[in-house]
Amino acid sequence: AKLFIGTVVNSRALGEIEILENVAVAVNESGNITSITALDSPDYERTVTCFTPESIVRLPKYAFIIPGFIDCHIHSPQYRYAGTGTDVPLMNWLNKYAFPTERRFLDDADFATKTYSRLIKRCLSNGTTTACFFATIHLYPTLNFVSLIREAGMRAFVGKVSMDQNSPKYYVEDTNEAISAADEFVKAVLETSGDARAALVTPVITPRFLPTCSPQLLKSLAAIAKKYDVPIQSHMSEALDEIEYVHQLYGKADPEIFAENGLLTCKTIMAHSIHLSDGDIKILRDHGTGIAHCPLSNYFFADGILRTRHLLRSGIKVGLGSDIAGGYSVSILENMRHAVISSKILVSQRKRTIGTANKESDETDEISYKDAFYLATMGGAQVLNIDHVVGAIEVGKAFDAIVVHCADDNGNGIGGMEVWSDDTAESLFEKFINLGGVENMKSVYVAGNKVV
Ligand code: GUN
Ligand code: FE
Repeated sequence: AKLFIGTVVNSRALGEIEILENVAVAVNESGNITSITALDSPDYERTVTCFTPESIVRLPKYAFIIPGFIDCHIHSPQYRYAGTGTDVPLMNWLNKYAFPTERRFLDDADFATKTYSRLIKRCLSNGTTTACFFATIHLYPTLNFVSLIREAGMRAFVGKVSMDQNSPKYYVEDTNEAISAADEFVKAVLETSGDARAALVTPVITPRFLPTCSPQLLKSLAAIAKKYDVPIQSHMSEALDEIEYVHQLYGKADPEIFAENGLLTCKTIMAHSIHLSDGDIKILRDHGTGIAHCPLSNYFFADGILRTRHLLRSGIKVGLGSDIAGGYSVSILENMRHAVISSKILVSQRKRTIGTANKESDETDEISYKDAFYLATMGGAQVLNIDHVVGAIEVGKAFDAIVVHCADDNGNGIGGMEVWSDDTAESLFEKFINLGGVENMKSVYVAGNKVV
């Protein structure tokens, strides 16, 4: 058990941050938050007597605790080339970079283990306490990835990717094989979820995207997800070349096809979903399906900017995703900034096309740093349907948290942050969102365990 004494910052509603100064957060042996008490309350006096001096973490000045970040969409094998290769449109990019790299995970175990271990470490040090991964089409290498995540103590959703058509010969599954491997993957992960640490990993049914999945595969995957009551993830309406391709194949838009095949559930996470009609938005809302917004990746492939606020207002759950390696950074902090900046671009574009007379509706698409923080924490938790477990530092939830230090013992700002004597908890927090980085993330916890 541990007691953390200092300042806590949460966002429990869009656009709102909650700052709790001078509080003590008690975390039990299971890693759950049992109380949050003000230091000047009698409750605190009672609480503190239950902790040994070694189990008390006292935050220094210019520091605070925030909930861990949630990455709702990331391709683990693509970490191997993250930071390179974003020079061609999506459909070419898959053939040029993604598929050849993913193929290597089948028979090169050292390559796979090294890539995956480094990625897990990198995610955790960047404050990502929960991530929702696409691995590769390979069953055993993906089960090995699950083991590595469990060893590291990260909270994760993992999908063995399914694809049985319109893919290169060296990276495709036979339909029946794809169906049985998906079933076997889910079963194997669930069967090994006995202890608390192992149970942090949830298997996900993962049809890659519509071009590479036959209708038969799509329907069978929906049935498997239903049988085991597990989430589903895919890519939807991501880019114009992809949408056009799907239109040529089926004469329909992505959301309709996913819905017809039973893949839109309240546990479905759809990456991107940039080009949606009003009808598409209604389909998503009616099914309770959430969106993983990947702002950095979208600059390169999407041919558009997500109308994040419009979707939230339409009652759709939205979280953030890094989309490694379509997005080059695993940092959710970085993606929060791009969610803000891209929304600004969207608003200015709309102002130019609609005219300033329509100012009211223009402004509604703008995302603030507070909104971005909400998306990175509570929003992501909602998309993954774990908002009863994580997303805020709150009694009853697991202690998935980042301890942020803005200044060193001499009061000098750490990393990209400058700290002044008149800074407040709120100004420090805003600066951290805009200027902070890994250097400021002193320690990271998942379910009460220190992982960084
Ligand atoms: N659509 C299908 N596969 C992929 C992928 O690996 N990355 C992205 N960004 N989009 C995809
Ligand atoms: Fe993706």
